[in-house]
Amino acid sequence: MHEATKVISYDLVVTEDGRIVRESPPDQPVSFVAGVSESPPPRIQQALRDAQPGEVRTIEFPAQNRGAGARIFRATIRAVRPATPAECAQKRGRFFPFDLFDMGPLPGDAGQAIKRLEQYSLIPPYPWGQWIYAQQLLKICTQVPGDAIELGVASGGTSLLLGHLLKAHGRQVFSLDSFEGLPQPTSRDNRYFLAGDYEGDEPLLERFCGVVEQEGLTNVVIPVKGFFADTVPELEQPEHLCFAHLDSDLYDSVYCSLEGVYDRMSPGGILIIDDFFHHAQGPARACSVFFNKARIQPLYHVVFPYAVGIIKGEEPPANCRRSLDGNIYAFDWLADDPVFRESLELSLDRTVPDSGSRKQARLLIDVLDDNSPSSANIYRYWAALEDFWDGISATRSRDWKIKI
Ligand SMILES: C[S@@+](CC[C@H](N)C(=O)[O-])C[C@H]1O[C@@H](n2cnc3c(N)ncnc32)[C@H](O)[C@@H]1O
Repeated sequence: MHEATKVISYDLVVTEDGRIVRESPPDQPVSFVAGVSESPPPRIQQALRDAQPGEVRTIEFPAQNRGAGARIFRATIRAVRPATPAECAQKRGRFFPFDLFDMGPLPGDAGQAIKRLEQYSLIPPYPWGQWIYAQQLLKICTQVPGDAIELGVASGGTSLLLGHLLKAHGRQVFSLDSFEGLPQPTSRDNRYFLAGDYEGDEPLLERFCGVVEQEGLTNVVIPVKGFFADTVPELEQPEHLCFAHLDSDLYDSVYCSLEGVYDRMSPGGILIIDDFFHHAQGPARACSVFFNKARIQPLYHVVFPYAVGIIKGEEPPANCRRSLDGNIYAFDWLADDPVFRESLELSLDRTVPDSGSRKQARLLIDVLDDNSPSSANIYRYWAALEDFWDGISATRSRDWKIKI
């Protein structure tokens, strides 16, 4: 590129009626940034014709030079025209439930923090897990004593979020991980995860400590390095917990975590088990064995897409029925969250009439609208997210590792 060339970047959204709307930079008229008159330049028109609905593409084109120096305009176009049924069938991944993972910024301080920490988070629990955890934690943290703990930290997005939420309340977050990836799965885990999944290309503990400092959370978020079998039995602090996030994928890891944290949970404290509806099934099996031994029948609050939360001491309502896996589920955390509900409605609106993804979005809305104690709602939830489960199922061994 010539030295005098200036690259001007801007984001445009092409609306359903074909207008071009500027998203950024915010203070320049579209006619200026496009370097042309009000009508879209031919390259943009072509890009729009070729783009899939919702697709983001970046194109570069030289502007007719007016004044000194060449200018290159870099336009990022988000095409939002409605999908045709053929496109819908071809590109199911762009619609419900997948678009729910990319609904733009969530509101308020928690929403901003979640967005800012996206780079350190895995999807899921980003964004809806983190959003729901923030809502539930903020509801209880003034009445329920104790710190927070995360077992399975990876790049640290959830620990950092918990740190920001709890700092003002003088609580700490203990963040336990090998920072070397998963240990060996066992026969209690269906085939999917591999030893060493979530290793990083650079030392993960050092990176995490650097981000903790950068985020102003030194002495709030406390990293604890090592495999749980070694670290959890030695853990003196925290004595009491108001929140625990168990996100370690494997039976042994989750079982060891439950043994280490459950008795420390304050009454009313929240315990999250991630990957509960993952095909690998280790976390769900660990919970069954742990709670059966303890003679506890938990009420599992479903968190989109595959986590569950338990409130320490909460009994399932007497009229609730167990599903075939022996568990009792509630959908209230999702059903009562206006931000999730609104995003779900938007996702439904985007789908094409009669498409599979429209039926599935509608089904999830029906499940959330159903206040009955039916045990069948969990089956309907699983059916609504069929495309998501299919996307992560692996029947053959992987020859690549999950990297962070
Ligand atoms: C799915 S990642 C955690 C994602 C993270 N919670 C987030 O919100 O982005 C799972 C993590 O659990 C850790 N892990 C699993 N089993 C472990 C064990 N037995 N001991 C230590 N770390 C373990 C892995 O190293 C990995 O970093």
